[in-house]
Amino acid sequence: MSKLIKRTVLLGAVAASGAAAFYLTADTDTQMEIASSTGPLLRMLDPELSHIIGIQAAARGLLPRDTRPDPPSLHTKVFGLEFSNPLGLAAGFDKNAEAVAGLMGLGFGFVEVGSITPRPQPGNPPPRVFRIPELKATINRYGFNNLGADAVQDHLAEFEKKVLQDPSIKRGPLGVNLGKNKSSKDASQDYCIGLTRLAQHADYLVVNVSSPNTPGLRALQGRKELEALVKQVKGTRDRMLWGPGGPPPLLIKVAPDLSEPDKRDIAAVALNCGVDGLIVSNTTIQRPGRVAEFPAAQEAGGLSGPPLLELSTSVLSDMYRLTGGRLPLVGCGGVSSGEDAYRKIRAGASLVQLYTAFAYEGPTLIPRVKRELAECLDRDGFRSVAEAVGADHPDIRGGSGPGTRKTSPSWFRWW
Ligand SMILES: Cc1cc2nc3c(=O)[nH]c(=O)nc-3n(C[C@H](O)[C@H](O)[C@H](O)COP(=O)(O)O)c2cc1C
Repeated sequence: MSKLIKRTVLLGAVAASGAAAFYLTADTDTQMEIASSTGPLLRMLDPELSHIIGIQAAARGLLPRDTRPDPPSLHTKVFGLEFSNPLGLAAGFDKNAEAVAGLMGLGFGFVEVGSITPRPQPGNPPPRVFRIPELKATINRYGFNNLGADAVQDHLAEFEKKVLQDPSIKRGPLGVNLGKNKSSKDASQDYCIGLTRLAQHADYLVVNVSSPNTPGLRALQGRKELEALVKQVKGTRDRMLWGPGGPPPLLIKVAPDLSEPDKRDIAAVALNCGVDGLIVSNTTIQRPGRVAEFPAAQEAGGLSGPPLLELSTSVLSDMYRLTGGRLPLVGCGGVSSGEDAYRKIRAGASLVQLYTAFAYEGPTLIPRVKRELAECLDRDGFRSVAEAVGADHPDIRGGSGPGTRKTSPSWFRWW
């Protein structure tokens, strides 16, 4: 190697390690800005490649760590679990639980991994993720590409070891989202295998019956099918040995493309079979509003991002009404601001998840959404997330109208 090349390589290495040292010792805001400034570069790459880079960066501790405490108004308790804030990362980003510590560290109140199938599977052939940058939307047909339950079990055990060794790692609740292998004939059996392998690592479990990219999966949302599935999965969970805290709660993740009878059936099964909560919703097979104008709209797969907000929030609201506000709901679909998250909460969500906005905006999104959400609550006189849940349904909440406080007035507290 000539002297010039050697010097250039050396200089490059010194500059890179200097930049890395600066980044790793910078404060949270600076780290967030630096990490987010790589966004435009990542968006020039193929969407699947930038997804892989994001996961690898998070797995190697290269994402910013937000150590600032969340505003007290965002603290909430759902399913008996404590959340420092109600904003979670939806399933599909960390499919194999490779980067949980890094993702928790970004300031999410909780992280959901998966969907995980019993056996590893490659998913659909690429390209299988398509951006519509003008609408900050995505269409994907990944098809449950994942390393399978055994590998994910190892990753989750490693995460738990890491948390024990390093108390500075932020540890919000962890959701494990289960799917079925494409070639499996017996869907219930697949969910039960996933549950048996992974439930001991989960704070909550999700049975995903709503991905549009696995043939026949969404048919499991039908009344008879869902009832049989829930009974079998719950039975398997309850036959396992659990400590004093009992088994993790079981949630069902539903599609936004449901008819009125579908919604009524799901609500009835959820209430009658002891499901602990619903995630509303997965991606849509519809192409609402301006989406149809873009060539990517022709691609098969599920649409996510802002064009999904209206549809998924309206289904969320329906599910709150149909379950009489008796079942905790997780609102997901199209959230990219605190106002969006607040709308989901008022419509009936106890917790909120997002994915696509994070893929577009990067780490700065999370503190921004949390700050805006706290401002929305404060503006309308809610002292906590729990007070605002279902505020758009005063008939169900027992007559307390929008903006009214469920807690005692200040004179009462003074007494
Ligand atoms: C690329 C991609 C992959 C996804 N993979 C999964 C998955 O494996 N399991 C699942 O339950 N949801 C999956 N989802 C759906 C998201 O969890 C979420 O429900 C949906 O994207 C709506 O939220 P958003 O508009 O904030 O992205 C995926 C979404 C995207 C964009």
